[in-house]
Amino acid sequence: MDVSEVRKCFPILNQQVNGHPLTYLDSAASSQKPIQVIDALKHYYEWDNANVHRGVHTLGSRATDAYELARAKVAQFIQAHSEREIVFTRGTTTAINLVGGSFAREICEAGDEIVITPMEHHSNLIPWQQVAAATGAVLKFIPLQADGSIAMQDVKDTLTNRTKIVAFSHVSNVLGAINPVKEITKLAHLHGAVVFVDGAQSIPHLPVDVQELDCDFYAFSGHKMCGPTGIGVLYGKDKLLQLMEPIEFGGEMIDHVDLGSATVRVSFYLYNTREDVDRLIYAVLETKKFFSEEGGSSDRFVL
Ligand SMILES: Cc1ncc(COP(=O)(O)O)c(C=O)c1O
Repeated sequence: MDVSEVRKCFPILNQQVNGHPLTYLDSAASSQKPIQVIDALKHYYEWDNANVHRGVHTLGSRATDAYELARAKVAQFIQAHSEREIVFTRGTTTAINLVGGSFAREICEAGDEIVITPMEHHSNLIPWQQVAAATGAVLKFIPLQADGSIAMQDVKDTLTNRTKIVAFSHVSNVLGAINPVKEITKLAHLHGAVVFVDGAQSIPHLPVDVQELDCDFYAFSGHKMCGPTGIGVLYGKDKLLQLMEPIEFGGEMIDHVDLGSATVRVSFYLYNTREDVDRLIYAVLETKKFFSEEGGSSDRFVL
């Protein structure tokens, strides 16, 4: 990889800070945006800006087509079975809260167990604390080894037939540990538990194939993978998304509405992203293209 060529893609780096060329080392918190993504946003506002799934005029159709194309591309990006399994959210945190509020609270009862690890970002801790407090479920932790890794024997010892949810990061923002998602998922499924994977730190660095991992939910944020702030993805197996109720009503997710009642559309409108759409559409596509074109032989571009 030619680092100087890649550097040229990031206009923000073309400045001095404290008399030195800017070096940015905080990509795990939020990555900078390549010119391709910035141009895509500009193009969208200059040419195609409209309300998706609402307007039947030309711009509305273009915006809607681009929005649904983005959903299909995201599905392809993580090898989801279908684009019906992609819910757009504001980011990883919103995705976790959506699963906690709309799914976990429905399936957990007093005495059930939610299993997580001590290496989680607080976005993958507090929502589970909330579910436990609301339902009487018990929050359990898979202990860590001295080197910060997870031992499969500890996973086996922690899971029981009362375990309903197993939630953990693919790559830890705290330790950098890469967790064995496939193996943990296999064990969790043996107990009938549902697996949620926080992919916020893995998606910019690792190929992700959700069918291969077989996890039930997988979440990530656009702003950590060269995309815009305020967008993210919740992947969920179709059969599980069908069980979930939206946590936010209104906007493009409504199928039919009258003064007394309304019906909602298919499950991937679980979270109403209407106001985030414009920042998302092309940017998702351009982010993906950028990863493959500028990232050399790899399908991922590592910042
Ligand atoms: C592992 C992990 N999970 C979740 C989050 C929260 O992501 P967001 O703020 O985009 O919702 C972060 C952010 O640093 C993270 O590193």
